[in-house]
Amino acid sequence: MHVFIAGANGQIGQHLLREMANSDHEVRAMIRHPDQGPELQQLGATETVLGDLEKDCSEAMKGCDAVIFAAGSGPHTGPEKTTDVDQNGAIRLIDTAKAMGIKRFVIVSSIGAEEPDNGPEKLRHYLQAKHNADEHLKNSGLNYTIVRPGQLTNDEGTGKVSVSVRPEEIGKIPRQDVARVLLATLDADTTGDSVFYVVSGDTPVAEAVAKL
Ligand SMILES: NC(=O)c1ccc[n+]([C@@H]2O[C@H](COP(=O)([O-])OP(=O)(O)OC[C@H]3O[C@@H](n4cnc5c(N)ncnc54)[C@H](OP(=O)(O)O)[C@@H]3O)[C@@H](O)[C@H]2O)c1
Repeated sequence: MHVFIAGANGQIGQHLLREMANSDHEVRAMIRHPDQGPELQQLGATETVLGDLEKDCSEAMKGCDAVIFAAGSGPHTGPEKTTDVDQNGAIRLIDTAKAMGIKRFVIVSSIGAEEPDNGPEKLRHYLQAKHNADEHLKNSGLNYTIVRPGQLTNDEGTGKVSVSVRPEEIGKIPRQDVARVLLATLDADTTGDSVFYVVSGDTPVAEAVAKL
């Protein structure tokens, strides 16, 4: 597949490029600054393309078969950017994929996005933005997968996870393992039109995803 990655220069995004370097997929990594290109190509991107989720990305997405949205405005920005990027940026990309005939869309969401009002007060705006993007994707008609990780860490991945279709305990998971899950999700036929939760666990990634 020719896979378009939004957020390719992010922490999960860079792990994903390393994982995808050993796959059969062609990877188009969207970046915001030209100087990010060489490093991402070294990590595993087949090509890089300039684009911004706050603008139209249709040129950047031409010729792709699938999208992985691993972007986010990050904790250093305010609520407006969360709305602009995590919600509206994702929604714009979903709509563009649909208009362009790109059928597969995988999004990195978050545990808690299923019921934002039940989340911790300081996370509610963020969780609501994720929720709104997820709902838009569910209703888009695209073949979707919504991946809801627990709390992200920068620990080395173990390659072993616990996946569930309902939120269980709010565990942690290394970003490297989330990247492995994203790649496995793309390759598995068990994950079409699905939402699942993932934290660290005892089951190898491919096996866990195949059992969904
Ligand atoms: N922190 C947690 O515990 C947690 C838990 C569950 C889910 N998540 C979600 O996991 C996802 C990825 O996390 P991460 O740690 O890998 O994030 P990250 O390192 O902050 O990476 C975010 C990426 O999004 C890109 N981005 C931001 N605004 C953009 C825009 N307007 N246009 C294009 N790209 C844009 C950034 O680009 P630049 O590199 O150019 O800045 C960066 O590459 C996020 O959606 C986050 O909400 C986080």
